[in-house]
Amino acid sequence: MEKPAIAGGEPIRNKPLSFGVPLIEQEEINGVVEVLKSGWISTGPKTQELEKKFREYVGSKYAVAVNSCTAGMHVSLVAAGIGEGDEVITTPMTFTATSNSVIHCGATPVFADINRDTMNIDPAEIESKITSRTKAIMPVHYSGQACEMDEILDIARKNDLIVIEDAAHALGAEYKGKKVGSIGHAAAFSFHVHKNITTAEGGMVSTDNDEWAKKIRVMRLHGMTKDAWGRASESKVHYDVVFPGFKYNMTDIQAAMGLAQLSKLESYIATRQKYARMYTEAFKQLPQLKLLKRIDNIRHGENMFVIRLELEKLKVDRDEFVKCLKAENITPSIHYRAVHLNSYYRENFGYKPGDYPNAEYVADRVVTMPFSPKLTEDDVRDVISAVTRIVNYYSR
Ligand SMILES: Cc1ncc(COP(=O)(O)O)c(C=O)c1O
Repeated sequence: MEKPAIAGGEPIRNKPLSFGVPLIEQEEINGVVEVLKSGWISTGPKTQELEKKFREYVGSKYAVAVNSCTAGMHVSLVAAGIGEGDEVITTPMTFTATSNSVIHCGATPVFADINRDTMNIDPAEIESKITSRTKAIMPVHYSGQACEMDEILDIARKNDLIVIEDAAHALGAEYKGKKVGSIGHAAAFSFHVHKNITTAEGGMVSTDNDEWAKKIRVMRLHGMTKDAWGRASESKVHYDVVFPGFKYNMTDIQAAMGLAQLSKLESYIATRQKYARMYTEAFKQLPQLKLLKRIDNIRHGENMFVIRLELEKLKVDRDEFVKCLKAENITPSIHYRAVHLNSYYRENFGYKPGDYPNAEYVADRVVTMPFSPKLTEDDVRDVISAVTRIVNYYSR
């Protein structure tokens, strides 16, 4: 049997392959250089152009650019009036930014367990967590596959709740023919390095709500009624402060990168789809692995390709498996450690192991494969060879 590198075999690769490498091409470089030379590098015309292209792409009435998805979730919650004494239901299988943003506005995050097969929040679990204090639901479209939005919106309607989506992974994803970003009451997207488009750091809020869009625009920059570009480009000299706002604006340098990336999003997704098919074909032959279930009637955003180890069929645990891949010169990632088991959440909300069995089950088993349009087919084949050799060697 072929020995993995960790057991003394030759590593599959001599050049390291890292998780989530961004694809930056000449268009992004030209766009950024143009802004740098223009004399206007902070929030201005490029940010406005990105907002316009973004709302046309997702099909929302408004898009407001911010400096991260975290900022976008925070201002959306504040704009929706969520604050002290309120509860917001979300998933424990997410990046901590989702539930942190609830805490930032003074409200309490309440977790609802996931469906093990899709790793998205389970609508039945949401229903069981609703109290008289519940004000909003924050679904997270894990890996880019939309949550069961019909059920979630139905629960929201019946209980008079707001739905603010964490769409960090889901740019380009669709649910029953509608783009994520045009489904819930507001959605926050991320342009962080590993996302479907990147501006290094950055984000966008989409909404059809006139009042929220106006508030978010003001709140993203100190609560001022006019930003510097507005004052420079119009006859208005003064601004008023109508809210003690935040410093969440996007710069035109980021927006220039975002415009170049957004114009290539569909081709990025096509490449991601091709690599997802290569991984799926190879990994479904291995009984020691389980792949996430894909639901019908949706277009997966393909932000991450996640495998789940069937630990009962392996002699290594997940962390050892990650070490084995690293020895092959391949660095995967883990999404996520269940949020409720982090110290802050245990100490402040009393969460403990056993509270969310499905999230905890997958949290011990998931591994995220290297996956980005920057990869070549040979890179993907290397990952497949490495995973196959490790799984076969440590098979029970
Ligand atoms: C599910 C999820 N939500 C929110 C975020 C936060 O995004 P940002 O870094 O743009 O604030 C991330 C980023 O990794 C994420 O994966």
